[in-house]
Amino acid sequence: SITHGSKRQIHSTAKLSKPPLAFVFDIDGVLIRGPSVLPAAKRALAMLEGENPFGVKIPYILLTNGGGVSEKERCQKLSQQLGFTVGPSQYVQAHTILKDQVHKYADKPVLVLGGKLDKVRQVAEDYGFTKAYTTLDVLKWNPAVWPFHQLTEAERKVAKPVDFSQTSISAIFVFHDPRNWALDVQVACDVIQSGGIIGGPYLKSHEREHPVEIVFCNPDLLWRSDFGRPRLGQGAFKEAFQAVYKALTGSNYAYVQYGKPTTATYLFAEKVLIDRIRDMYGVSHTTLPPVYMVGDNPESDIAGANAANWLSVLVHTGVFDPDQGPPAYLPTHQAPDVEYGVRWAIEREL
Ligand code: G3P
Ligand code: MG
Repeated sequence: SITHGSKRQIHSTAKLSKPPLAFVFDIDGVLIRGPSVLPAAKRALAMLEGENPFGVKIPYILLTNGGGVSEKERCQKLSQQLGFTVGPSQYVQAHTILKDQVHKYADKPVLVLGGKLDKVRQVAEDYGFTKAYTTLDVLKWNPAVWPFHQLTEAERKVAKPVDFSQTSISAIFVFHDPRNWALDVQVACDVIQSGGIIGGPYLKSHEREHPVEIVFCNPDLLWRSDFGRPRLGQGAFKEAFQAVYKALTGSNYAYVQYGKPTTATYLFAEKVLIDRIRDMYGVSHTTLPPVYMVGDNPESDIAGANAANWLSVLVHTGVFDPDQGPPAYLPTHQAPDVEYGVRWAIEREL
């Protein structure tokens, strides 16, 4: 526990009119690695749930570039892994922000990429997309679209019967990391070059009346799972798509980017954090206490937190390797793991 030689008295929530500080936690490489929970994560959250010199619950939310399932499903899994209840009101994942965008596409056909089978379609439909299609649907419609993959039995079961020759795709949303990059790059290039109709005539960019929008939800080139070295993330898929599209057409394709470190995602997370504080401390709260972001990836967690004028703690349990030199984005503090980081922040605010 934290040294109690602090200057401030021990307070109870009732006496603290506002939280002394708040935390935003990245997940992969900070709290978990693949299927494993970092032991430091449980000790860190225990401090925030009350085991701290303030004697109060310190508000926190989770902000991840992960995704692929509903916020509810992920929170159920995280609560079981971490040993503390984490609810959807405390959780922002890569594509949560799309809930604010769906009105533009509610009744338009869109292609949703990433994740397992058609989990991401289910998430998209829960958000309000009424015509969300997958590249498995495309292969079901015409296997010749990509001759090198035959639908598995499991994929066949979830693929929907759609006539894509009569379905003009208006936008492509990369919710999570695609499982079959080749298939997804092929279909994305088909949709974009034919102005929405897969297999239609290729149109020069100036001939496309309504260019298909492509939206990526996670820019991570790398992320930390339970392998000894970082793994390629959705940002690597984006690079692959752009390289192929440029080879085909001579130019890059304009895209929309969400996820850490984008400003849109940090502004979205800030609203979620303020709502969490209002839930815990009363609706009068509209301003934030000092916010500490704890992350493992300088390019996403630290860059975004610094730009949001939060304090930032870079831990050494994920993507960043201190032996490889200084981080590309300087954090307020570096710590071996999330427990040290949380303890440093609390003691700093005593
Ligand atoms: O796919 C998830 C990965 O890109 C990073 O996740 O939790 O470290 O933001 P996280
Ligand atoms: Mg991470």
